[in-house]
Amino acid sequence: MSAGANPRALAAQALAEVVAGKSLRAVQSATAARLDDARDRALFTALLHEGARWWLRFDVALDAMLERPLRERDADIRALLVLGLVQVEILRLSDYAAVSATVEAARALRKPSFAGLVNALLRRWLREREACNARLDRDAATATAHPPWLIASLQSDWPQEAAAILAANNRAAPLWLRINRRRVTPAGFAAQLAEAGVACRAPDDAPDALLLESSLDVTGLPGYAQGAFAVQDGAAQQAAALLDLRAGQRVLDACAAPGGKSAHILESADVRLTALDADARRLPRLRENLQRLGLAADVRAGDAATPRDWWDGVAFDRILLDAPCSATGIIRRQPDVKLHRRADDISALCVTQERLLDALWPLLGRGGRLVYATCSVLADENARQVDAFLGRHADARGVQPTLPWHAAGAGVQNLPGESGMDGFFYALVEKHN
Ligand SMILES: C[S@@+](CC[C@H](N)C(=O)[O-])C[C@H]1O[C@@H](n2cnc3c(N)ncnc32)[C@H](O)[C@@H]1O
Repeated sequence: MSAGANPRALAAQALAEVVAGKSLRAVQSATAARLDDARDRALFTALLHEGARWWLRFDVALDAMLERPLRERDADIRALLVLGLVQVEILRLSDYAAVSATVEAARALRKPSFAGLVNALLRRWLREREACNARLDRDAATATAHPPWLIASLQSDWPQEAAAILAANNRAAPLWLRINRRRVTPAGFAAQLAEAGVACRAPDDAPDALLLESSLDVTGLPGYAQGAFAVQDGAAQQAAALLDLRAGQRVLDACAAPGGKSAHILESADVRLTALDADARRLPRLRENLQRLGLAADVRAGDAATPRDWWDGVAFDRILLDAPCSATGIIRRQPDVKLHRRADDISALCVTQERLLDALWPLLGRGGRLVYATCSVLADENARQVDAFLGRHADARGVQPTLPWHAAGAGVQNLPGESGMDGFFYALVEKHN
């Protein structure tokens, strides 16, 4: 069997690419399609996600076990060894099956000379696993598989909640759907799902949402092609209501791609929406999403920090700034954030967020409302960012969002896993004379 059809070998190659800096999402969608069998695809996806999620634990474990370091060109073998440990420790596959299939995967990678090493190392782990795990659990970074800078930031920003955040980041997220009310009600769609044998429930604090406990291929659900629903976490589904939309308003979604919140805005009210994004490569996906849902917006490529390039000079009634951020609130969905984000990135992101807030503020009309959102849990990007903004602008007034979340300066914060939702921050700012 070549790597092309072996889910473990493919996952090892994909994981090595993620560790080298590629995005997990991009690697996953480029690779999963190479597997015809649905069970192989599910195993590949589970291995890739759990491998990235637990890399910072099991990669360190390998250092202690390898007699000689592996060469750079054998990064796939290193990833395969991590996946061997993930199979027995996290996915809880049978020890024997996991070891023999992982040895076989070394051959599928066309590296049969490593079969003996893979076999010996995994068997040694199984003999010594208790002591090895105890050693890894003594250090916070290997116990939680998070980088030390992030653990320190969480402990500083959320001293009471840090342990719960770290634990939640290591659990897979449920599947949230946002029902397109222009097509069907959530109750009506829940009935269609029940008929199709798919269990779901209506969560308390997201009125357009249905929650599925396990992940599945949503393109196979009833109504997908007809735009009955979209996939969107419950926390992200709060933005449209916080904008307090009215028919006829001019609304700007300043960082819109791939269009999740733009679509919800258009499903919620008959507004005139400008959907802007600086990355033109992300706009086709935004357009496709709107089209499938039967929605229309003025979609533009442009830098929100330089409005003179794209703004017609007519004030907006509502602005949504879903700002580029550290994504530290969505680690359970994108575990590669733990591998790719660096401490230095945060200050650079804060500068961008500040520039965007200041550049967009003049575009808001009097009496208008700006919603600032991030999928970050870090105070520098959230409470401190908005508090500093309010200090710079005398005509800006913070309005506490009415969500049952943690108070965070002028805004509110959900922490990962709370109410089943992602970590998310919202602040509302209104413009006065
Ligand atoms: C958090 S994502 C937005 C997600 C989107 N609001 C949704 O709900 O689907 C941030 C987006 O900001 C865009 N972006 C980053 N810097 C920008 C800028 N200066 N102007 C406009 N868009 C920007 C990125 O290309 C990215 O698509």
